[in-house]
Amino acid sequence: MSTSDKKDIKQDNKIIIFDTTLRDGEQSPGVALNMDDKLQIGRQLEKLGVDVLEAGFPIASPGDFEGVRTLARELQGLQVAALARATKKDIDTAWEAIKEGVNPRIHTFLATSDIHLKYKLRKTREEVLEMAGEAVKYASRYTSNVEFSAEDASRTDLDFLCRVFERVIDCGATTVNFPDTVGYAIPWDFGRMIKYVMENTPNIHKAVLSVHCHNDLGLATANVLSAINSGARQVECTINGIGERAGNTAMEEVVMAIKTRNDLLPFETNINTRHIAATSRMVSMLTGMVVQPNKAIVGANAFAHESGIHQDGVLKERTTYEIMDPRDIGLSSGSLVLGKHSGRHAIKAKLHEMGYDLSEEEIGRVFERFKVLADKKKEIFPEDLEAIVAEEILRIPERFRLTYLHVAGGSGIRPTATVGIEVDGKEEVAVSIGAGPIDAAFNAVSKIVKTKSKLLRFTVNSITGGTDAQGEVTVRLQEGDKVVTGQGADPDIITASVRAYLTALNRLEYK
Ligand code: KIV
Ligand code: ZN
Repeated sequence: MSTSDKKDIKQDNKIIIFDTTLRDGEQSPGVALNMDDKLQIGRQLEKLGVDVLEAGFPIASPGDFEGVRTLARELQGLQVAALARATKKDIDTAWEAIKEGVNPRIHTFLATSDIHLKYKLRKTREEVLEMAGEAVKYASRYTSNVEFSAEDASRTDLDFLCRVFERVIDCGATTVNFPDTVGYAIPWDFGRMIKYVMENTPNIHKAVLSVHCHNDLGLATANVLSAINSGARQVECTINGIGERAGNTAMEEVVMAIKTRNDLLPFETNINTRHIAATSRMVSMLTGMVVQPNKAIVGANAFAHESGIHQDGVLKERTTYEIMDPRDIGLSSGSLVLGKHSGRHAIKAKLHEMGYDLSEEEIGRVFERFKVLADKKKEIFPEDLEAIVAEEILRIPERFRLTYLHVAGGSGIRPTATVGIEVDGKEEVAVSIGAGPIDAAFNAVSKIVKTKSKLLRFTVNSITGGTDAQGEVTVRLQEGDKVVTGQGADPDIITASVRAYLTALNRLEYK
């Protein structure tokens, strides 16, 4: 092909961010988002600057279909994608779900590795080549925005993969995706594979080459960066790296690596990094997937300096031990931002600066919680406000509401809790003992709510530094086949625990 025939559709240094938090991320064990959750996350991802948002797998269930359709209708600032296997029925259903979106994308996939062909598909390479081409041709009748993924590409014979990509691009695919489905790739080898595809797929200049890496060996981000270096220009990723098994590439890691090491990674994304922390918290809150404290970029310890030498260095000059400015991801710089004398206007302005567009009624609710917190805690940081917003604004309808909590405990005393809960507007009170104060409080709650749920997980994290910091508690419950999570935050971790427990119980009711 002569150079004049080549119509390059890519901008050389722009990396397209394709977020799959609501599809691959939702496939994380125990995660089940309802429509409101999906919409909240979708709007936040739009604000964050995501280019393409994969909203779900419409054929999977009516709930998935409705979720994708609602997001495609509601989100006008990005492309909404829907996943489909390489069959007409899947593709028809995907299109039906996204057709009202702005430049919506059909994302169809088919496995290409010999191991998948032999054991899963029971098809020959020639049959798979045909099927892939036909699926893309079929999808292209609806839209020119068609992505094809070669599932298990990293274990696929590369010459066969190039033939598949050449065929689907000829049939109309404008993005071809190279997934490391099982997280098997090693960075330099992954880069070599991407380079091979770039050099041996004759029409690759007519499509964007994308990568989608899983984190089974903890190498997803490294593999993605190596792929970008070799020519990939779309990254499929999730917030906090959630996803199947060990998860997907964490968006915040790729974006901040590009921003921080732009000397070696001279690329750009549309992501407004100042919304990263809020997005991470929202996804954690709504999915119940707790972010590990030492998680890069968004973990509670990511900007904490424990050793005296480090603290001294940072106080003298931040860059001695900090390669990123916490403000770049929307965290406070460590300085006091708000206190008990701050008024409603100051809270409103701060919330706006943090990227929250709340109604006056919602600001009022946040302000009430803020005043209660400011009475207990001298310094209020943006992270504290975020926790309040997460609890107050993102919460689901409440059947059970905490009205009273008194706990007695200590050495030599049998832990006892008295709990008051409004159930459908009527207050009920129960007293219980327990192994510890939290156990006692949960037992009292269970007496009132008469729940049969089983506590699967209970975790506590500190939102900021200091002994007056708010503790953020996450509770995961199971009742039958329903698994839900709830979070609560308060400087008193027993109150935070009961709030988290009630949020989870309300979720069980809501489901
Ligand atoms: O991991 C994978 O291969 C996928 C594809 C559907 C892109 O999620
Ligand atoms: Zn995947």
